Amino acid sequence: MQKKQKILVANWKMNPTSLKEGEKLFDSIAKTAKQAKNVLTIISPPSIFLPSLAKRTKSSKLRFGAQDAYFENEGAYTGLTSVKQVRSSGATYLIIGHSEVRARGEQEDFIQKKIRAALAEEITPILCIGEKERDDQGTFFEILANQLESALHGLPFYKITSVVLAYEPVWAIGKDAKRSATPQEAEETALVIRKYLFTQYGKDVASSVRILYGGSVDDMSVKDFLEIPSIQGLLIGRASLDKTIFSKIITLADSI
Ligand code: PGA
Repeated sequence: MQKKQKILVANWKMNPTSLKEGEKLFDSIAKTAKQAKNVLTIISPPSIFLPSLAKRTKSSKLRFGAQDAYFENEGAYTGLTSVKQVRSSGATYLIIGHSEVRARGEQEDFIQKKIRAALAEEITPILCIGEKERDDQGTFFEILANQLESALHGLPFYKITSVVLAYEPVWAIGKDAKRSATPQEAEETALVIRKYLFTQYGKDVASSVRILYGGSVDDMSVKDFLEIPSIQGLLIGRASLDKTIFSKIITLADSI
């Protein structure tokens, strides 16, 4: 039986400290990524490293993503990098609405504009959604629905199918995380997200949108998450900065 392709997004955040280290980490990961037939690895380094890294290898198993970009194409926006600029430096994916960006004040209308700008440049948006707290009554589903509603508002259905969704519960992300979500929690949430997509946009959109899980994933948990049929991949922070662990994650993902 043909195995389904898994997506692994490496979110390097503001790491490593130098381009030289970034190149070393990339070269080591790229070796494994190129051989993994059933995995698409998307490396998202700091944008300033993109042009150098993107030149280092060409493989259909490896792509590049930016961690954020601004929706205007040019102008007086000191310190910002546009979607068009990240596209020209080799990225074909863009993480949008990551909780760390939202925590710095990202507004829902900016998220919506960034998705549109990415699609206009033929960049695949990776839209992050997630609740700050998970309650037993399931009211956090409403938060996810609101985030989806405003981010995808007004987009034609055929464009929504190319958006990748990353369910990233804020409480499960980063070194201060209490814990990772359990595979059951991730599965339950992915199903609720699909149900929402079904209600809003119909069967085709609901079945074709790819959903990733992110939050404290490591080599021990990767298989449990990827064995869930409603989850197509993972967004990985800390564990993507360790060449040995991340290579192991790629190999494990390839085996499922
Ligand atoms: P983590 O980060 O894997 O280090 O928890 C995930 C993320 O922030 O996307």
